Amino acid sequence: MENQKILSLLSDLTSLLGDSRCLTDEVSKHHFGRDWTRFCEPDPIAVLFPESIMEVQQIIALARRFEVPLVPSGGRTGLSGGAMAAKGELVLSLERMDRILASDTTSKSITCQAGASTAAVQEAARQLGLMYPVDFASSGSSQIGGNIATNAGGIQVIRYGMTRNWVSGLKVVTGTGELLDLNRGLTKNNTGLDLRHLMIGSEGILGVIVEATLQLCSPPQDTGVAVLGMPSMTAIMSLLERVQAHSTLLAFEFFSDLALEKVTNRHGVTRPLNTACPFYALLEYERPGPESEAVLLGLIEGAIEGGEVVDAVFSQNLAQARALWRLREDISETIAEWTPYKNDISTSVSGVPALIESIEVIVGQRYPHFEVVWYGHIGDGNLHLNILKPDSMALEEFQRHCKIVSAELFQVVKDFGGSISAEHGVGLLKKEFLHYSRSAEEIALMRAIKRLFDPDLILNPGKVFDLQ
Ligand code: MLT
Ligand code: ZN
Repeated sequence: MENQKILSLLSDLTSLLGDSRCLTDEVSKHHFGRDWTRFCEPDPIAVLFPESIMEVQQIIALARRFEVPLVPSGGRTGLSGGAMAAKGELVLSLERMDRILASDTTSKSITCQAGASTAAVQEAARQLGLMYPVDFASSGSSQIGGNIATNAGGIQVIRYGMTRNWVSGLKVVTGTGELLDLNRGLTKNNTGLDLRHLMIGSEGILGVIVEATLQLCSPPQDTGVAVLGMPSMTAIMSLLERVQAHSTLLAFEFFSDLALEKVTNRHGVTRPLNTACPFYALLEYERPGPESEAVLLGLIEGAIEGGEVVDAVFSQNLAQARALWRLREDISETIAEWTPYKNDISTSVSGVPALIESIEVIVGQRYPHFEVVWYGHIGDGNLHLNILKPDSMALEEFQRHCKIVSAELFQVVKDFGGSISAEHGVGLLKKEFLHYSRSAEEIALMRAIKRLFDPDLILNPGKVFDLQ
């Protein structure tokens, strides 16, 4: 955009928001112009901080008039580049719209602005004696609007499902500046197409989420955490089935020995088990009474005797439970130092062992000299495969290599009827591979829907799919 036009746009934005809520300094642009991906440099024109729905609408009106794209921005903890502003966009941060607006213990719901952090919503629910059950390592910094825009999953999906399950109302400003008030917190509402669900997971390309009503539930009475040393991923899957027959699981996660090694080295913590195993399963389970835990312990002991489990450790108190969880939750941040090539794939839970077998062949052949870190929500059929960049290799060369392998990997995922992005979203990183998970007809419909909600194509253009 030519300089004169930028100056005129910035002058209008400053009149609307004031200097302190329209930032153009390099540090702010760099900070707010990117998410957790590190594959390209941010380059926005400015970072905007609206404080009301009306200001969001006014910003959208200006963006349309000046034909400047907007990148809606939450806690920027995404891993697919969905919140990257690298092409002269305006970053529309929801950070100042972070209030809890209402709570309703009879309907078991909370209404909040989009910029409220996940942790703030969880805490507000706790104050009511209830629980907002969508949880992940980044709950302190991730924001509700971003969670909804990416249909965030996390560590308790096996028990509570994804963000989508908990959104009963949504206010969204579309690309034309219209405010939609979707579903209004209703449990039952069969009046035509549910546009709320179109918005959930839409990665900011259809509208800016400004407010949400979230459902809450009663917290489990007591829970325990165990880490089990496992001989193989297949053994993990067969254990899952047996454990589920006897216990209510809140989480069933896994990680490889290399993942554990990186975390224990970085944080100076001791390994949970004396024996090193190829993989570890982390279980969180409900403990309604001592007898239920005894059944689980008996089952694990039997599995140890039978060689299906190598060793196990059970939390005795909350501090130990938290320490065991950190072994899993700290992996992502720990390996970020190696600029990993992240894969976030899924298949049906029963399809996991065969999928893993096929992928391990590719990984063994194509990445013989790279460090490969596996972890993820294996109980949901969701595997995170992270390839670490060797220190000696330039980033571009590493990415080029990984992209070629991705095509091969995603073909296998497609053959299994799986998804190339189970929870991180498509953003910029996965858009060239979208066709491995969605048909040409589906993508054509998505493009048409995008044009309906955002005819001037100002909302997060270039994310999820291109428009030609
Ligand atoms: C996780 O499961 O830890 C998150 O999805 C982040 C990641 O995949 O690195
Ligand atoms: Zn994950």
